[in-house]
Amino acid sequence: MDQEEEERRRLAIVESYKIVCICNKIRRGVVQKAIDGGAESIDDVRRRTRAATGPCGSKRCGPVIKRMLRKP
Ligand code: FES
Repeated sequence: MDQEEEERRRLAIVESYKIVCICNKIRRGVVQKAIDGGAESIDDVRRRTRAATGPCGSKRCGPVIKRMLRKP
């Protein structure tokens, strides 16, 4: 593995630990895993991860999850 590839992997790991849903402390990696596992809507992600079910009513995490759903 070259240095560039290793750096990309390292950044992906750091990214996956960032919290997407602050209310429920759900990390990006958990949401991505739900999407990779077939979640196609914010409701699917909600059911699988509990993200977007907190007191803010998904005002904070909703836009981020929607962007993640749009990515191929
Ligand atoms: S940040 Fe996700 S429900 Fe509030």
